[in-house]
Amino acid sequence: MRRTLVAANWKMNGNKETVASLLTAFKNGMSGSADVAIFPPALYVPQVAQALAGTDISFGVQNVSAQESGAFTGELSLSMVNDFACKYVLIGHSERRELFGETDADVAQKVVATLKAGLIPMLCIGETLEQRESGITEEVVGTQIKAVLDAVGIAAFETIVIAYEPVWAIGTGKTASPEQAQDVHAFIRGMLEAEDAAVAAKTRILYGGSVKAASAEALFGQPDIDGGLVGGASLLADEFVAICNAAKG
Ligand code: 13P
Repeated sequence: MRRTLVAANWKMNGNKETVASLLTAFKNGMSGSADVAIFPPALYVPQVAQALAGTDISFGVQNVSAQESGAFTGELSLSMVNDFACKYVLIGHSERRELFGETDADVAQKVVATLKAGLIPMLCIGETLEQRESGITEEVVGTQIKAVLDAVGIAAFETIVIAYEPVWAIGTGKTASPEQAQDVHAFIRGMLEAEDAAVAAKTRILYGGSVKAASAEALFGQPDIDGGLVGGASLLADEFVAICNAAKG
């Protein structure tokens, strides 16, 4: 049985005050029906770690370097991330791929390094609108998964969390319908099943892209949707708490 996981990707938003007030609201509002993870901007990780100590809410970083240390100005290493009790690392978000040129090979390297460091990669994949309209969604998503599968092997997908985020649904207010999302999630699980059915049954596959409290229950009710990766709505305390509490466990 896969337990629902709901994650907040705050992207490059917020300040000390909003971080404190959102975390207070999350701690007070969560019913515990889902696992919850927060991805704040990295500078706020120590503040988040302190505020969430002793709670069930986990946290992580939005990006990491695959390098161990050295002359990589502006980057963060996994040993630094491990210094602050992070559990997850978001890898290959479409904004990293599109705006910062991350390739499937870069993403695979980061997944390898993250697993080696004992952290949980949350691997983001998804097609653009143009790709969907050309009918190549499965090919695109399949290629993104295969790059990681080839690098780490199927057994690692017991640990890895996949976040399917259609690029056309991110920040646009256009949520994929539960059926559209389920179709792609079933395709992804089918791909993993072809390698190892027992592992595929355990892999959590989250949906991301304009998830709101109003759409969460129908999405989370789909057989292959195991939770959500939430952007904009995770910056609104009541909305994010309602999304987390829409999970049945
Ligand atoms: P929105 O929920 O704002 O569409 O963002 C989704 C996302 O990119 C989460 O990683």
